[in-house]
Amino acid sequence: MAFQPKLLMVDPSHFEVSYVINPWMKPGAWHEDPAGHLHQARTASAALHKALVEAGAEVLTMPGARGLPDMVFPANAAVVLDRRAIVARFACDERRGEEALFLKQFRSLQRRGGLDTVVQYPEGIFQEGAGDCIWDDSRQQFWAGYGQRSAKASLQVTEDFFNVPVVPLELVSPRFYHLDTCFLVLSGGEILYYPPAFSAEGRATIEGLAGKENVLEATDEDAAGFCVNAVNFGREIIMARPPRALVERLEARGYRVTGVDLDPFILSGGGAYCMTLRLNRESSAAVERAAAE
Ligand code: ARG
Repeated sequence: MAFQPKLLMVDPSHFEVSYVINPWMKPGAWHEDPAGHLHQARTASAALHKALVEAGAEVLTMPGARGLPDMVFPANAAVVLDRRAIVARFACDERRGEEALFLKQFRSLQRRGGLDTVVQYPEGIFQEGAGDCIWDDSRQQFWAGYGQRSAKASLQVTEDFFNVPVVPLELVSPRFYHLDTCFLVLSGGEILYYPPAFSAEGRATIEGLAGKENVLEATDEDAAGFCVNAVNFGREIIMARPPRALVERLEARGYRVTGVDLDPFILSGGGAYCMTLRLNRESSAAVERAAAE
């Protein structure tokens, strides 16, 4: 692969479902069999890791931390583009302890030459990382969710930091509390999205900027199965076990879909995309700058 995707994952040893900060979270179900669920979570995380590597990605795994079970969702840790990272400010107290650990991780990546700049969103401006800020390589812009976990005020910070356009999308349903639960950008420019998660204005923005021919609507089943929360690079798409019809729709567009059993993480309201963070995306402006140097 010409440009190998580099993804961060977090070791799931400290994962559990012990609190409720989104409507999918089921601590009761988890505590019926914590050891069994943890075992399944390790298996699921390893299966995702394997599928990503087989599809051509490099995966970097960092340790988690006791008492911070949702660290397994590093998509929420930061927005990363052009070797610049801006670390999240979590809206929920339960996840705030992750900020310092991810900051440390990104600073260490910076020391080792993997990133140039590491900052954090200003205090009081909530923003939950790439889960709410999705890079669109075809359109050279971010799509940014706000209204649930991330504040609208974060969008200007993102735009100023990366110097690329940031398109606002209001999220109107607590079930789809991060943009990545209901919105997926594919390498060919298609967008798979779940309309009920967005305001009428958001839906019009998506259709207007993407073009009707590029828009695929996810079904209730696709969304509830966390299949929209998928990882894509090149023609590869890796997602929680998909319904057959979704696989067929994506194959018809030339993609190859790999389904992974991520049920233990769905008990926390997360799927494949949020279990990863892409570390090496480049805007075309940065690629051109580098070529000119
Ligand atoms: N339990 C986690 C939370 O509610 C799940 C996060 C999933 N991440 C995502 N980007 N959708 O914060």
